[in-house]
Amino acid sequence: MYDFLGSKIQSPIIIGSGPLTYSAEGIKKLHKNKAGLCVTKTIKLEAAINPIPHMQMSENKSLINDELWSDYTYETWINKELPELKKSKIPVIASCGHSVEETSLMVEGLEKAGATFLELVSYNEEDLLPMLIDTKKRVNIPIIVKLPSRVKNMVELAKTLEKNGADALTISDSIGPAMRVNIETGLSTLGNISKGWLTGEAILPFNINNIYEVRKNINIPIIGLGGIMSYKNAIEVFMAGANYVGVCTYPIIYGEKVIGKLSDQIEKWLTDNNYKSLEDIIGLIHKKSESIVGEFKYNKDKCIKCKKCEIVCAYDARRISEDMYLDNSKCRKCGLCSSICPTRALEFY
Ligand SMILES: Cc1cc2nc3c(=O)[nH]c(=O)nc-3n(C[C@H](O)[C@H](O)[C@H](O)COP(=O)(O)O)c2cc1C
Repeated sequence: MYDFLGSKIQSPIIIGSGPLTYSAEGIKKLHKNKAGLCVTKTIKLEAAINPIPHMQMSENKSLINDELWSDYTYETWINKELPELKKSKIPVIASCGHSVEETSLMVEGLEKAGATFLELVSYNEEDLLPMLIDTKKRVNIPIIVKLPSRVKNMVELAKTLEKNGADALTISDSIGPAMRVNIETGLSTLGNISKGWLTGEAILPFNINNIYEVRKNINIPIIGLGGIMSYKNAIEVFMAGANYVGVCTYPIIYGEKVIGKLSDQIEKWLTDNNYKSLEDIIGLIHKKSESIVGEFKYNKDKCIKCKKCEIVCAYDARRISEDMYLDNSKCRKCGLCSSICPTRALEFY
């Protein structure tokens, strides 16, 4: 069991707000598949009417979507969905948006109906602080704030939210606007000229950088959400400084069963790598030295002579025939040759 803001949860994996958390039924299914917690689809007073279609594959395990908020009303959530989860003793984070005018009318009702935590979300970064200050006056349950992916200054925003009583931060959201073109129709893949929001593998590096920068400056827990599509991605996100990992696109594309598998794989990786607990790797990167002077190491027995290292060398410094040759006068130690090596015959220390 893991601790989340005073509650016990069955895994460190949080399901981000999205289509899988559309209802109590959806959330129960995720909980059965070892989700630690689920964030409801964002709740507003009115139900969303989504464009058709609103979710399309992009390359590299990524999605573009222009799905709106929940297609259930606030009344449905407080009268049916949240009480059903409470009855089943399933803790839940109720996502609520997108302005203080709206959240002030909902947060007390969501708490009363059974939300264990709240997550405040807005498309507009200026709305987050007023939403947090107002919500803190209205409820007693812990409040998480979800940061948009692109803001003027992520660190300053995170520090302000921590100072004003946020209990945790979710970092972060989809990235956009983004667009793909269907080359057969000449239209956007989302139909007509619609734009959407990018999620999944393509956004992982942006997300890791955001978590890394924020963790250097704040102490409250971080849910690292965005781009995690494997247990190795999850380990990276923990090492960057997240206390929990969030997934949304991963179980959408591969099914809910990946959640339990992800949790088990993280535990196995920790054991295999001699870590006593998850705590040992959270924020590990911050404990490491900032500057590294690297050297290459070549293991001939592992080399399959694929020549990838030679092909990617922009400076013509590498040659591979019977042995590996490196022209030190040309090599800039950019490291790409070792990072592309499929068998780790070439490593950079
Ligand atoms: C189809 C879809 C719908 C989403 N709807 C919401 C939403 O209603 N509220 C919200 O805060 N985030 C929403 N998100 C964003 C996710 O919660 C998450 O921040 C984002 O997908 C990045 O995580 P991922 O790369 O693991 O998918 C949605 C994402 C997808 C793919």
